[in-house]
Amino acid sequence: MLYRCLKPLLFRMDAEKAHNFALRGTGTLSAMPPLARLVRSTMARPKADVVSLMGLTFPHRVGLAAGLDKNGVAPWAWWAFGFGFVELGTVTPKPQDGNPKPRMFRLIEERAVVNRMGFNNAGAPALAARLQGAKPSFPVIVSVGKNATTPLENAESDYQAAAAAVASVADAISINISSPNTAGLRSLQTPELAGKLVTVIREVAPSKPILVKFAPELSGDDLAAVIDACLTAGAAGFIATNTLSTAVRPELPQGGLSGRPLKEISPQRVEEIRRRLGTGPTLIGCGGIEDAATARRMRDAGADLVQVYTALVYQGPFLAASISRELSRG
Ligand SMILES: Cc1cc2nc3c(=O)[nH]c(=O)nc-3n(C[C@H](O)[C@H](O)[C@H](O)COP(=O)(O)O)c2cc1C
Repeated sequence: MLYRCLKPLLFRMDAEKAHNFALRGTGTLSAMPPLARLVRSTMARPKADVVSLMGLTFPHRVGLAAGLDKNGVAPWAWWAFGFGFVELGTVTPKPQDGNPKPRMFRLIEERAVVNRMGFNNAGAPALAARLQGAKPSFPVIVSVGKNATTPLENAESDYQAAAAAVASVADAISINISSPNTAGLRSLQTPELAGKLVTVIREVAPSKPILVKFAPELSGDDLAAVIDACLTAGAAGFIATNTLSTAVRPELPQGGLSGRPLKEISPQRVEEIRRRLGTGPTLIGCGGIEDAATARRMRDAGADLVQVYTALVYQGPFLAASISRELSRG
C-alpha cells in the first residue's frame, strides 16, 4: 500500500536517485530495530518454511539478491520486510565509486532494469564494521569482488582480502565472477581461476560456506567444468544467475539486463546446474522472479532458495514475503 503511493514519485526520479532515496529510508528503519520489529509485526507474516542448508537455517526460501544493499546499510529492514535471507555486497577490498553516471535505467515495458554500476561500494571493511553487532537473525551472505583498478592477474588477492574482511560477520560468502560491468571479470569463470578463488577464500574463511555466482551466458561444457572445479576446491553451492549482458542488444544502454527478460534463461541454467550437481550442493535461483509462479519454476528447476531484485523495483519490498507465503502452500 505504502509502496503503491511512493512508486509514482520514485518513477519520476532518475533510477539511481530513486534507488538511493528508497535505500536511505530503508536504512533509517534498519537503524531502529524496535521500529523494524513493529513493521514486521504489522505485516502479513511470511509463513515459516524452515530449511537447513550449508549448516544454516533459513526461515523460508525467498531472499534479497546481491547489489541492492551493497554496503549492508539495511539488514534489519530486510528482516522487517519478511525476507528469508539477504545477500549483501558486492564489496571490494577498497572503496570505489563505480562507473560514471547515468548507470541505472528502467525498461518499464519489459519490467526490466539495465545497470552498469561497476561495484560502487564503501569497501569490505566498512560493511564488516556496519554489520558487527547489528546482524538480524537470518542468514547473511556477503558477495565479494575485485577493485576495478586491480589487474586481473592479481584478482585472487582482492577476492581473498575482501573475504577476510567480512569473514567474521558473514554466514556465507559468495564469489561474484559474473558481473558484466567490471572489465574482464567474467573471464574468471574458468575451472582454473574460479577454483583458485574458492581455495584462497577458504584459507581465510575456513568455516564459512562459499558460493559461486554465474552469468546466464555460461553454459554447456564450459559451465560443467567450472562447477566441477569449484566443487573440488570446496564450494558449498552456486547462484544462478547474474544479469544478462546487453552487448547482444545494441538498442539498449550497455550493461547488465535484469528482471523479466531473464525469466526463461535463468531457470534453464538452474536446471542445467542441478543436473550436474545432483542433490547435495546448494543452488540459489535468481533472475526474472516476480511472483509465486516464477519462483516455483525456479524451485522445480532445482533451486533450493530463490532471490529477487528487479521485481522489487516494480512491486515494492513486501514482495518476498508474499511470494514465500504462496510458495509454502505448495
Ligand atoms: C542495479 C543492480 C545492481 C546489481 N549489483 C550486483 C552486485 O553488486 N553483485 C551481484 O552479484 N549481482 C548484482 N546484481 C544482479 C542481481 O543480484 C541479480 O542477479 C539479477 O538482477 C537478476 O535478478 P532479478 O531479475 O531478480 O533482478 C545487480 C542487479 C541490479 C539490477
